[in-house]
Formats: sequence, structure tokens, C-alpha cells
Amino acid sequence: SKDRYILGIETSCDETAAAVIKNGRTILSNIVASQIDSHKRFGGVVPEIASRHHVEQITVVVEEALQKANMTFQDLTAIAVTEGPGLVGALLIGINAAKALAFAHNLPIIGVHHIAGHIYANQLVHELSFPLIALVVSGGHTELVYMKEHGSFEVIGETLDDAAGEAYDKVARTLNLPYPGGPHIDRLAHEGMASIDLPRAWLEERSYNFSFSGLKSAVINTLHNASQRGETIDPKNLAASFQASVVDVLVTKTLRAAEEYKVKQVLLAGGVAANKGLRSALENALIDKQGIELMIPPLSLCTDNAAMIAAAGDVLYQKGIFGDLKMNAHPGLPL
Ligand code: KG4
Ligand code: ZN
Repeated sequence: SKDRYILGIETSCDETAAAVIKNGRTILSNIVASQIDSHKRFGGVVPEIASRHHVEQITVVVEEALQKANMTFQDLTAIAVTEGPGLVGALLIGINAAKALAFAHNLPIIGVHHIAGHIYANQLVHELSFPLIALVVSGGHTELVYMKEHGSFEVIGETLDDAAGEAYDKVARTLNLPYPGGPHIDRLAHEGMASIDLPRAWLEERSYNFSFSGLKSAVINTLHNASQRGETIDPKNLAASFQASVVDVLVTKTLRAAEEYKVKQVLLAGGVAANKGLRSALENALIDKQGIELMIPPLSLCTDNAAMIAAAGDVLYQKGIFGDLKMNAHPGLPL
């Protein structure tokens, strides 16, 4: 049958992104305009600034994605866009661009869940096989997702407070590291030793849920108590100890889920999937588990991008699930 060329658009947070994907698997172009420098001095994403940047960048980024793919709108099969969750003003820029382009060029429009996108980033590397467990860890999400087939998502665990990436960013802030702090903590952690005893939130016996706010407070208290005693704490060791706690809980629960649900694959997804400590701990944990394949996208596909949105959109296209020109932003869209 005919090849499918899907234009993906992503504007849910602080990256304006567009990409063209062939048959859900092959990246023809993947353009990301990051706004991080504009948000850095505020220590986090400022929604109004994000929206303004998206407005300025969206047309340029879409045109560049088509150009790099050597395509025109006439060559496209459909347009996929992030419908939620995310910042409402940011989402709306992408959705309105997608609607205008779909209308002007008479193309079907597909609404994609941002987390489905993060999971389907893996499909750009290797075919998914089911059943699988995806550990989705980003600035806004920490979820264990069970998938029995394409397009089917069951959230079996999630964070009760901070997301993993949020905890990284907050701890980084207390150590005076720039935003986003995850990569800085990751780097420090590898130079230090996990010598400081920090809590691990296992929650109830069989729970797949997570909690990171207690850990974050423990880090802050450790720093505070040390300074009251006139002592200094090596930030490298604190970073290493924090990372050890986060990774320990994430890997242990993911492994237990993989065994309980008898999965063929474990997928890592979201910005925190770029974490070197998490990647290697998960690799080690699964090394002697016969029949469970670990998939981790390359760094460029872990953080927000539109290739992953187009890849997830391709699944919906094949299932015949389309949006329409009444599509709206859903800041709290459930998976
Ligand atoms: O998926 P993403 O780009 O945006 C959201 O949808 O949230 O994730 C961004 C998050 C930030 O919190 C950032 O600090 C974190 O991912 N992050 C990392 C690393 N690289 C990015 N966290 C830990 N270690 C890293 N190497
Ligand atoms: Zn994301």
C-alpha cells in the first residue's frame, strides 16, 4: 500500500518542534527550537514567554521540517499535533497551526497525547513488541504504563507528588545549578559517591506509585543542617546520593512490573530517560532477564520533539482515529 508521511507538531512546553516521519518509523526531518535560554534566568518555564516564543517560531520550524524532508504539503498524508497535557497557551499555538495547515491543504488532523509521543519515540529506533512496560519520566510525568497492543495505555503507577524531572530540577536549584538541572545533577553524580543516606519512597507493599517530594526535602534538610553546624557538603556526593535514591526506586518498580506483567519489552521514555545513571542501572537490572528486551531512545529523542508525536500519530492514523477543526487544548488530558 501507499507510504504515509506525517507532519508532527509539538508545542506543549518550552520546545517548538516539527518533524516529518515516513510510515511511523523513519525520521525524514526533526526540527526543535529550544527556548531554554529565555527561561533560564527565571529558573523554570514561564508560560507567557513560552507562548510568545511558540508564536514566533512555529511557522519557521514547520517550513524547515518540510524543507529538510524535501517535501511540500501536497506530499503529506496527515498532520499530527500534541493535544495535551501541557501548558494551555503553549498547546494552543501548535493546535491552531495544525488546524490552519490541515484546513488550507485539505489534510486529516490527528490529536496526540504527549506521553504517548514519548513512548513512541522508541518506535523510531526499533519495532515495539507487546506486551510491554514503559517507564515515562519527564519534567511533568512519572508513570509506569502497561501496553498490551498498539495505542493501548494502562497507567499502573504514577507519582503522587513531584515528577522525577521536577525533583531533579528542584534539587539542582538548591545546589545553585542552572535550569534545567537534570543533566547537571547527572554529571555531578558521576563525579561523586553516594555516601549520604537519603530516603527511598517505596510506598505500600505492591504499589507501583512514586513519591519524590520527601527525597527532595531530605536533600534540602541535609544541606541546611550541615550549614547550621558550619560544615560543608560536597555537592557531588549529594548529587550522587540523590540520583542513587531516584534510580533505585525507578528501576526496582519497573523490574517488578516487567516480571508481574510478563512483558517482552521495557521502554524508557521522557527527558529523564537521558539520565546516564538510570540508563545503566536499568541495563544492568535486565541483563540476566531472559526474553525481556530493553529499549532506550537516543538522547535527542528523549526530550521533547515532534518526531515522537508524528510516530504516535501514525498509529492513530492506521486505526482511523482523527481529530477535527474543533480540536482544543487539554492541559490535563489523561493517557
Ligand atoms: O520530556 P522533557 O523534555 O519535557 C517534559 O515533558 O517535561 O523532560 C525534561 C526534564 C527536565 O526536568 C530535565 O531536568 C530532565 O528532563 N532531564 C534529566 C536529564 N536530562 C533531562 N534529568 C536527569 N538526568 C538527565 N540527564
Ligand atoms: Zn515531554
